[in-house]
Amino acid sequence: MNQRQPSEYKDAKLDFSDHLRNSIRDYWWDYDFLQLMQKRLGLSKLKNGLDLGCGMGHWTRAILPHLHPEAAITGIDSNVEWIQEAIHLSSQRMNFDFGDAYSIPFPDETFDFVTCQTLLMHLEKPADAIKEMYRVLKKDGVIFLAEPNNYGNLVRINSAQECLSPAERLQITELYTTIEEGKKIVGDGFMGILYQLPKLAQNNGFKHVQCYRNDVVFNIFPPYKNDAQKAMLDFLLIFMEKGYAYIFPREITEKYFLAANNDKALYRKLMNTSDKLNDIYKEQIINKTFEGSFGPDMIITAGVK
Ligand SMILES: C[S@@+](CC[C@H](N)C(=O)[O-])C[C@H]1O[C@@H](n2cnc3c(N)ncnc32)[C@H](O)[C@@H]1O
Repeated sequence: MNQRQPSEYKDAKLDFSDHLRNSIRDYWWDYDFLQLMQKRLGLSKLKNGLDLGCGMGHWTRAILPHLHPEAAITGIDSNVEWIQEAIHLSSQRMNFDFGDAYSIPFPDETFDFVTCQTLLMHLEKPADAIKEMYRVLKKDGVIFLAEPNNYGNLVRINSAQECLSPAERLQITELYTTIEEGKKIVGDGFMGILYQLPKLAQNNGFKHVQCYRNDVVFNIFPPYKNDAQKAMLDFLLIFMEKGYAYIFPREITEKYFLAANNDKALYRKLMNTSDKLNDIYKEQIINKTFEGSFGPDMIITAGVK
């Protein structure tokens, strides 16, 4: 195994700070849905697992209660800052360390299961990571890969969007779709990876490949009483105040857009509409008139070695 060193990841292509530090990820899954996954995937029998690209360990912490009572999970990530945060938040039966999804620092057939959440959508070569997952899994071991349906999340249904004309809403869709195309072109992963995962898993040796849709919906309506609503509004406000387009900071937005379409005048025009939309969001959230329905629309793709 050729392990790269943590310092080689310093120029991390994407900065996940605003995505991971907000508490919204704590509301992505319902306990009862994960109980259903426990039954369907036989999670309660699994003792030794790996969470790849674990970030701050949100997913690691969500799944641990659904495994065997003595189960332990190792989380690895190529960003040591996240590993330190994950260690800080960890409890018993969790270990976190630096590691690369393309070259997993464990011998063949180590784990009963390998999982990941919102990792594969950011990798240039997701198939290579899936091959590595296969290698480190024991025979009959399970993978379960959680990725969002982000194309569904592109078109948001809410009271801010309603204030735009149909032509402006199309501009927003064009902006977001072009950004996603550029993300793929520069090698930062493919937001639509979700639909390719069943085939990728099957082509790399996994059997019994199945997909399951999580049923969480963030319904936001005043007076925003519950914690998930508050977390979602915080998440939106951070992004709007920083002038994000879709879910990306401005400098990344520009890089991705121009990689897919070098028409700078079009980029400026679409960003003007995006800024207008951000201002509407901010005003409505601050005035407590905002209403909306959001994903996360998470899907689990599972398979057996
Ligand atoms: C969107 S975050 C998801 C974090 C976590 N799984 C969660 O759901 O909260 C993607 C994570 O993948 C990590 N990552 C990106 N490329 C990686 C690689 N080649 N090997 C390991 N981790 C990687 C990033 O550092 C980041 O923490």
